[in-house]
Amino acid sequence: MSESTYYELCNNVALAIEKAVSGIIGKPEAGVTLRIGADGTPTEKIDEVAENAALRVLEKDGRSMRFVSEELGEKILGDEPEFTFVLDPIDGTFNAVNNIPFFCVPIAIGGSDLSDISYGYVKNLVNGDIYIAERGKGAFLNGKRIHVSDHSDLSELSVISYSQRPHALPINNHNVRRVRVYGCAALELCYIASGIFDAFIDMRNMLRITDIAAAKLIVEEAGGRVTDWNGDPLTTALDVRQRLNMIASNGRAHDKLLELA
Ligand code: IPD
Ligand code: CA
Repeated sequence: MSESTYYELCNNVALAIEKAVSGIIGKPEAGVTLRIGADGTPTEKIDEVAENAALRVLEKDGRSMRFVSEELGEKILGDEPEFTFVLDPIDGTFNAVNNIPFFCVPIAIGGSDLSDISYGYVKNLVNGDIYIAERGKGAFLNGKRIHVSDHSDLSELSVISYSQRPHALPINNHNVRRVRVYGCAALELCYIASGIFDAFIDMRNMLRITDIAAAKLIVEEAGGRVTDWNGDPLTTALDVRQRLNMIASNGRAHDKLLELA
């Protein structure tokens, strides 16, 4: 399949999700817990509405694929899957339910684990920004190429940091330039890719592959580096029950951040 058709497929899914959830964003019903999803966390109504809308688009599309999604886990569509379609129906559910304007739809297309993602797509559902990357071809925001920042000294860094006890990392407003947390990992990673922030750190062992598969490729294609805390590449299987830690950076600051771990 060509790049444009991956784009079309992802875009059609994101548009369907956007349409399906538009009437419930910020409303109490959006946050009603329906059950525990396949990923082991609560499925709220907005998550289910979004996932069902995505599934309808993929079934209508007709291609055979392995569909991996946060709430349902895994579903094989058709007889001979051509690729794995990894979806978080809504990343930033807490934000969407509470009308905090920072949530998105991340989609990755790949094979069996995080090391062989070939296409990444992240759509900001608040302002419509679309980040995409295809392996070996760079990363783009709304069609314009993006690059990571070039800061290297800790004192210059703007960092998104989810380091909490017991794995608290000494990242704070005293040793780096600024620390922020916005509650939507995929979009936060896209901010590393576009050079707004220099690093993203999550040591809670709570991230799922659905949160980060698409944006990992986007960061890498923008010139950044993504590893675990030993500096090793992420090779987690595309399975929503897996949990991981990660550090994503502009590359130049990476080793200094690893030394703090
Ligand atoms: C959450 C967001 C958040 C991260 C959490 C995730 P969800 O995803 O990505 O940034 O800190 O660990 O659960 O639940 O809104 O899809
Ligand atoms: Ca989600």
